Amino acid sequence: MRVVLIAGARPNFVKIAGLQEALSGRSGIEVLVVHTGQHYDDEMSGGFFRDLEMDEPERNLGVGSGSHAVQTAGVMTRFDAFLDEVATDMVVVVGDVNSTVACSLTAVKRGIPVAHVEAGLRSFDWEMPEEINRLVTDRLSSLLFTPSRDGDENLKGEGRPAEAIHFVGNVMVDTLLRFRDKAARSDVVERLGVAAGEYAVLTMHRPRNVDTREAFAGLLGAFAEIAGRIPVVYPMHPRSRRTLSEAGLLERAEAISGLRMTGPLGYLDFIELEARARFVMTDSGGVQEETTVLGVPCLTLRPNTERPVTITEGTNTLVGTNPDAITKAAAGILDEGYKLSGRLPELWDGHASERIADIIENY
Ligand code: UD1
Ligand code: UDP
Repeated sequence: MRVVLIAGARPNFVKIAGLQEALSGRSGIEVLVVHTGQHYDDEMSGGFFRDLEMDEPERNLGVGSGSHAVQTAGVMTRFDAFLDEVATDMVVVVGDVNSTVACSLTAVKRGIPVAHVEAGLRSFDWEMPEEINRLVTDRLSSLLFTPSRDGDENLKGEGRPAEAIHFVGNVMVDTLLRFRDKAARSDVVERLGVAAGEYAVLTMHRPRNVDTREAFAGLLGAFAEIAGRIPVVYPMHPRSRRTLSEAGLLERAEAISGLRMTGPLGYLDFIELEARARFVMTDSGGVQEETTVLGVPCLTLRPNTERPVTITEGTNTLVGTNPDAITKAAAGILDEGYKLSGRLPELWDGHASERIADIIENY
């Protein structure tokens, strides 16, 4: 059975690392990785294959950036041509990016079954492009692998058959636990000139936060106040760098003393930076999960999350996007500390990929 594993954007590479290893260890399964090329800078793509000790993908479709329609359609036509060439028995997609929905739709129309890893997550926020991608991908998939029980409930509520739904745990956590010790050897904390436990980390790339000058400028006000009390390390996603330059905000951001801006960091460096932080501020999905496992307080700069277990079981607090609320939440941690639950969500144990491989092997 030939299984094609799809990855296109930064978080996908982290999610497929364990899956590729688990699937290729099974007799009778050949696994090929197809990279769509949605992310392409070395620091958003190639570096992850090296850090995660993965082989080069079988094929890079080289789709690049574009509007949602251009990017999604580009992946579809290029992946369709790949499937003309390479007989494929199953397509495995992860997460909720444009590459995920594009490859699912292409495969299913050709009669190839699709398995979705990280199925069932819902923010119930139709303004997020990812929510559309999640709903469509789940509707198209024959195997639905959920990271948390809320995923099962959401899928059942949408009428997906119970036998298609498999609660397996979190593949991003598999990778985190596997590489945690190696990451601990990174010198990123010293290199960035901060001290363990005495800095905050910031990541942002959601359109709602970084696509308009107004939203971004308001957030910078909050970060300036926070950076006045504790250094804030900000590895910038290319999407936010673009707005900062185009909106003429880069100088203002650079003038904030205490705000240390860098390019996107490699996986091992970033994990180590997260692990040693006093707290993290983010709008990333994956970072909400990783901070929960690392036991580091996380303030999520969004009005909602599709990962509610990181709040009920983990270290996450939904703060929203109001600058005053963000400043207040950060001050709360600095002045009063932060109560950590000490629990981990069910099955976030480093073995999700193996469970998925078991089910695919018997499909
Ligand atoms: C995408 C995903 C988002 C995910 C994020 C992870 C969609 C709709 N969005 O958002 O769900 O959380 O990846 O990081 O699929 N760019 C570069 N170099 C790169 C890649 C992107 O400069 O290697 C810049 C380009 O200006 C591009 C912009 O970033 O237009 C946005 O890239 P895109 O892949 O469209 O969306 P992301 O914001 O990265
Ligand atoms: N990450 C990284 N370097 C960075 C920022 C994030 O390696 O500078 C990793 C992070 O540890 C996590 C993944 O990228 O594994 C999350 O990706 P991102 O925030 O881009 O996407 P999302 O999870 O929001 O879809």
